[in-house]
Amino acid sequence: MYYPSYRMRRLRRTPAIRNMLRETTLAVDDLIYPFFVIAGENIKNPISSMPGCFQLSIGNLLGEVREVAELGIPAILLFGIPSHKDSAATGAYDSEGVVQMAVRAIKDEFPDLVVITDVCLCEYMDHGHCGVVQDGEIVNDVTLELLAKMAVTHADSGADFVAPSDMMDGRVAAIRNALDDDGFTDTAIMAYSAKFASAFYGPFREAAESAPAFGDRRTYQMDSANGEEAIREALLDIEEGADIIMVKPALPYLDVIHAVKQETKFPLAAYNVSGEYAMIKAAAANGWLDEERAVMEAVTGIKRAGADLIITYHAKDIARWIG
Ligand code: PBG
Repeated sequence: MYYPSYRMRRLRRTPAIRNMLRETTLAVDDLIYPFFVIAGENIKNPISSMPGCFQLSIGNLLGEVREVAELGIPAILLFGIPSHKDSAATGAYDSEGVVQMAVRAIKDEFPDLVVITDVCLCEYMDHGHCGVVQDGEIVNDVTLELLAKMAVTHADSGADFVAPSDMMDGRVAAIRNALDDDGFTDTAIMAYSAKFASAFYGPFREAAESAPAFGDRRTYQMDSANGEEAIREALLDIEEGADIIMVKPALPYLDVIHAVKQETKFPLAAYNVSGEYAMIKAAAANGWLDEERAVMEAVTGIKRAGADLIITYHAKDIARWIG
């Protein structure tokens, strides 16, 4: 059937009809809100390139976590900024480290909130790389041991999921084995499976103080041109024991989100990263975009592409708009 007997506009005629036919719905339950927790007391440092986001010490973090929980957002993702960085990332697997203490404090007050911890060494390394550096190289296998130790301390503090974002080979298996050996068989792994070497992490590196001091991350993070490789990464992580896989960033990689979901049928998270947030915030601050409409269009697109969960700095605003 064609025009004039068939008319697409019939089903767009009124808001009620449009709502009935809407194919993609975003729920507050789909959202994960990231936090930057910093060692020290009484700290609330604004992050200039991420308006509305802060580096927070634990006391201040708890107040913000309460707001997130009251908005009905089910999960948070924690990044740590330690007081001290060195070449062995000792702050990363210290049971008194900033993330470990934050998890315990959060779980004490908000036992039902899903707490996810980022597992990566870059914030704890004096050189800012995600792995151990030997002779100018980021060495894979030595790094795995540190990541596994870090994950175990997070689980021991009460983290529900650990989220390795380092892109070393074999890290999901190393972490799964270490967790199981220590009895943390119920701690889930949300693996940053297809993490691209991206310009859109720029604001995050200011927030987490984790820019690499030399070189870049291209020997471990993926080339932005590669879609099939993303599927291989996701399948490997699943083989190694990932419970949830991730594609990151989100908006320049909607095709990757779609393909990975189609291939794996696994729970899939997409990370709407700092640079994606900064772009909309900057345009909205200039009056160039309607912030609410732009954000909702972006996150609905990420969901339509195939993401089950969306990690986004817009989560609190979205929860207010749709809640
Ligand atoms: C650290 C890490 C990064 C992000 C999450 N974990 C930055 C990087 O790889 O340099 C980026 C998150 C964001 O931009 O919002 N491995």
